Amino acid sequence: MKKIMQISIHPILKSNKDWVKEVVQSWLADFIVSRGRKIYPADIDGFYAIDEAGNRVGMVTYEITDDQCEIVTLDAFQKFQGIGTALIEAVKKIARQKKCRRLWLITTNDNLEAIRFYQRRGFTLAAVHVNALSLSRKIKPSIPEVGNFGIPMRDEIEFEMSL
Ligand SMILES: CC(C)(COP(=O)(O)OP(=O)(O)OC[C@H]1O[C@@H](n2cnc3c(N)ncnc32)[C@H](O)[C@@H]1OP(=O)(O)O)[C@@H](O)C(=O)NCCC(=O)NCCS
Repeated sequence: MKKIMQISIHPILKSNKDWVKEVVQSWLADFIVSRGRKIYPADIDGFYAIDEAGNRVGMVTYEITDDQCEIVTLDAFQKFQGIGTALIEAVKKIARQKKCRRLWLITTNDNLEAIRFYQRRGFTLAAVHVNALSLSRKIKPSIPEVGNFGIPMRDEIEFEMSL
């Protein structure tokens, strides 16, 4: 029988920010680009997941603007263990507490795993921003031309959920 990983979720505090920077730096810059906008994940709020042994096994960052909450980054360092789901639930909870009406995020056209995952978690397609990555690359030239499965990285896919 598959062992179920026990994880707990904690808010990212100032003391964790160096670790957040390290994680983000592994994506070839200290910022990400979403809808043509630079966002520094270490400067915004988030949660991290730890396993029974105290290892950090995932991280989510988010930004609340008016009644909208954007999931800016989401990473499970070990897949299919419930880490991504638990991190999304933590953001949903805080977004509801802060009276947000909409939870949304951007992923890219090559990220088939994320496209599957978000739909299974109840998100629906809000928009396809065709060729948006050509603008993103002007801001962040390190964005690769080719992504998962050898698919050219080209479009931003926007998912949303009403809260
Ligand atoms: C997309 C991503 C965040 C998903 O995270 P994840 O932790 O693998 O997701 P979960 O484990 O919560 O859910 C995946 C599946 O595992 C299953 N699962 C959940 N808990 C489980 C458990 N304890 N044991 C076994 N399986 C479990 C879920 O049922 C789910 O299947 P379903 O979607 O068919 O229902 C992860 O693949 C990732 O980090 N990808 C790379 C970064 C990325 O692309 N991020 C998104 C950018 S927008």
